[in-house]
Amino acid sequence: MQNRKGKIAVFLSGRGSNFDSIYKDSLKHDSNYNIELVISDNPDADGLVKSREYGLNTFAFKRSDYVKKKEFELAILDVLNDHKIDLICLAGYMRLIGKTLLKKYEKRIINIHPSLLPSFPGLNAQKQAYDYGVKFSGCTVHFVNSGIDTGQIISQSIVEVLSSDTLFSLSKKILEAEHIVYPKSIRKYFKTMELK
Ligand code: GAR
Repeated sequence: MQNRKGKIAVFLSGRGSNFDSIYKDSLKHDSNYNIELVISDNPDADGLVKSREYGLNTFAFKRSDYVKKKEFELAILDVLNDHKIDLICLAGYMRLIGKTLLKKYEKRIINIHPSLLPSFPGLNAQKQAYDYGVKFSGCTVHFVNSGIDTGQIISQSIVEVLSSDTLFSLSKKILEAEHIVYPKSIRKYFKTMELK
């Protein structure tokens, strides 16, 4: 049984609309988690600007400031440890998580991907699905492992592709589905977790 709220760190690289939906969900009275930190590899990310406006703890780590990926991830790890983070939520974080973070946060890093995995992993998933001509697409929340979008699936949300859909309208429908399924998945994670 959970006796305190889970502490999450949201990692983002750009727009941050998933971060925004998670933040809004975290403010609801029945939410079982809080955003403790927002971390970006892009100091100019719109999501980072928004997180500052919300008064959240935000940190930018530029990969080019570190020679090795290990050093970059060790710097991030320091901040995660300082804030006693329970779960890392990747939300449009366009960088592969390396061994250093994966080892310390095994089974405690999740991601959202804009396709029904295992179909269409990697970049431009919405376009891959649209170009293939699928009749249904959607999004997937999954645990992160060393592969590209290959970790164990937590939740999925399905979107129908209509003959009238364009890549733009499909991407919009998928994003709307993401904004619902990601906060739900975080709640689900903490419902089943014993927090220390
Ligand atoms: C989202 O569609 C997310 O699923 C995708 O990036 C977008 C970020 O949007 N992530 C990936 O493609 C990861 N493989 P946001 O910054 O507005 O949340």
